[in-house]
Amino acid sequence: MKSIKKYIPFLICFVFISTQILAQKNENNFIDSLMGKMTLEEKIGQLNLAVINNGVLTGTAISTGVDQKIKAGQAGGVFGTWDIDQIKKLQGLAVQGSRLHIPLLFGLDVIHGHQTIFPVPLALSCSWDTSLVKAVARTAAIEASADGINWVYSPMVDISRDARWGRDVEGAGEDPFLGAQMAKAMVEGYQGNNLMANNTVMACVKHFALYGAAMAGRDYTGVDMGRQEMYQYYFPPYKAAVDAGAGSVMASFNDVNGLPSAANKWLLTDVLRKQWGFKGFVVSDYGAINELTTRGLGDAQTIAALALNAGNDMEMVGDNYLGTLKKSVASGLVTMQTLDAACRRILEAKYKLGLFEDPYKYINVQRAKTEELTKSHLEQARKTAERTFVLLKNKNQRLPLKRKGTIAVIGPLADSKINMPGAWSVADDYHNSVTVLEGIQAALKNKATVLYQKGANITDDSLLKLRVNSFKEEITTDKRTPQQMITDAVKIARKSDVIIAVVGEAADMSGESASRTDIGIPHSQLNLLKALHKTGKPIVAVLFNGRPLTLNWENDHCDAILDTWFGGFEAGNAIADVLFGKYNPSGKITMSFPRNVGQIPIFYNERRTGRPFDENKDASKYKSDYLDVSNTPLFPFGYGLSYTNFSYGKIELSKTRLKADETLNASVKITNTGKYAGEEVVQLYITDPVARTTRSVEDLRGFKKIFLQPGESKDVTFSITPEDLKYYDYDLKYDWDAGDFIIKIGTNSRDTQSATVIWNK
Ligand code: BGC
Repeated sequence: MKSIKKYIPFLICFVFISTQILAQKNENNFIDSLMGKMTLEEKIGQLNLAVINNGVLTGTAISTGVDQKIKAGQAGGVFGTWDIDQIKKLQGLAVQGSRLHIPLLFGLDVIHGHQTIFPVPLALSCSWDTSLVKAVARTAAIEASADGINWVYSPMVDISRDARWGRDVEGAGEDPFLGAQMAKAMVEGYQGNNLMANNTVMACVKHFALYGAAMAGRDYTGVDMGRQEMYQYYFPPYKAAVDAGAGSVMASFNDVNGLPSAANKWLLTDVLRKQWGFKGFVVSDYGAINELTTRGLGDAQTIAALALNAGNDMEMVGDNYLGTLKKSVASGLVTMQTLDAACRRILEAKYKLGLFEDPYKYINVQRAKTEELTKSHLEQARKTAERTFVLLKNKNQRLPLKRKGTIAVIGPLADSKINMPGAWSVADDYHNSVTVLEGIQAALKNKATVLYQKGANITDDSLLKLRVNSFKEEITTDKRTPQQMITDAVKIARKSDVIIAVVGEAADMSGESASRTDIGIPHSQLNLLKALHKTGKPIVAVLFNGRPLTLNWENDHCDAILDTWFGGFEAGNAIADVLFGKYNPSGKITMSFPRNVGQIPIFYNERRTGRPFDENKDASKYKSDYLDVSNTPLFPFGYGLSYTNFSYGKIELSKTRLKADETLNASVKITNTGKYAGEEVVQLYITDPVARTTRSVEDLRGFKKIFLQPGESKDVTFSITPEDLKYYDYDLKYDWDAGDFIIKIGTNSRDTQSATVIWNK
């Protein structure tokens, strides 16, 4: 009996592998046989992704004659609709109306929730909590699939070091290690364990690659970057998403060293497929194939062939593939083999989603009614939001506030439902969101008096207003003059014990095509804050923002600053929970906050300079610094306060001399020395003082979130192996060097303790 038991794991393994092989064989046979029946036109048809007009159209290109195209087998997928009846109708056209009955993919930008809107991705990353983020993606997948969607254009994993870029809001910030963890969590959340299930959806990792390094932070510009930099700092999140099994990848709009991603064979084939082993399909971004012509790469036929040959399988919005690939096959510009490979990848995705088995599996009107915007999803949205807020300042423990006295809630974002969800929430009904004022009123009931004034328009700049309002009216202009609004606000401030000023960006002041060069709070609101400050009443600033802001005046004059990003439908309740101490904030920023725009790009893991500037000692010339501003950010990467205090003990090392095959355990005792229970994100950084190339000042290599009661201590241990010491050298060799390493553990990238080890090979 005992001896049989020994073989059970092998048996299970054998059965598992055989099932996998068999499933793969069935898939191959099915697709071989289907492709055997397809005409060249039908194969090209699968490479076309049409947009339906009720989505967010992010370019001038649109799709025409979609119904006819579907019936003629000229569309592989459709995106932009989440209307289940429409999806059912379109799937019917494909399955019943087209010659080979091939089902469609239905895609959508499900970025931070579908019907239930969660905090924006940048906020989610500030939780440093991968299970929380995975759970958000899981819920988004349940809701989106209940509306007939089987493919989501998320996660967006572009590293960004530039606060001017509007799309910071969609990513996880500046760090590749944290970005990779977030990317993996999201893919796992969307795709679940079984892509065939009717409540999982295929993820689309975007935007491959380097979109976040857009020149000057201006959307859609090109990127020139050395490969070492790409591999070391920008690629890890894309790779992590691919390793997690993401079914598709979206090529980015930008050039990469002079060749746009959609036409970049090195990127889409050599790196993605050959080096990383990606097996899914690549889709272009919106109209990006058309834009190859705009960028000067040639006419429709040339650019379509260029993109397909580079490894861009599907064209999103545009008829270049449909219109020219047949000719290109005939003339030899594209081989049949390349075209077949692209078509096969799209059919494989449909197979993996189970669409050939049941094309209507995601279309269930009952689910659409019962699985969206549920009580538990809203509860999850509230709990999630609380964990994403970052307390940037809390002078004299001004927060949490007592539930008593008179509280003035002031600001153009205090009671603005339309601005709660944040950018890229295409399927939301923003009326479902709870504003800050509503959240505070509900939290206080009759315990305190709440007074409210708008105080200012989000901006008085008419051009900014016009551009931000192009989809919906997020910025309204009050009938009163700006001065009158301020006077009215000051009046209630004087009657109050404390002012809660809800200020910042309108939702679409960040997001796609929302780059800014002045990243401060708009002047109208700063004027309001200055007037409120003159009353002498304490000010708690609650910020709405999709990117780091410059906050010098606010930091100097407000008593507390709580950064709440765009917290989604339940943000109002979640903000009240934090302001009145029901939840102790634990978020930490994942992008450095600059002191001024001139410091950008500013990020913690920059490479060492030969002339470092010591902020505390140096006044000398010829150092790497600015004459007019410090080198440091206002708030460093990883920074965020709590209502309690955490003290860090000395780093204890399991060894100080190690060999190549050994693991180092680095521990630290953390004690909650304050009065509140709370969570702390303990961060591990490593510095490599001597290497083959210039290394970063430090790199994040681990983090753990712990919960401590007042007075409680916990030992936090990080296990470090040589894998954590590796880097890409000048020749792109990924390895580590023997020698000293400085292990740093702390509460943010600036405030750490350190200990040195020697690691031999
Ligand atoms: C964006 C993508 C998005 C696509 C489809 C583009 O403009 O860059 O992130 O997925 O539109 O809406």
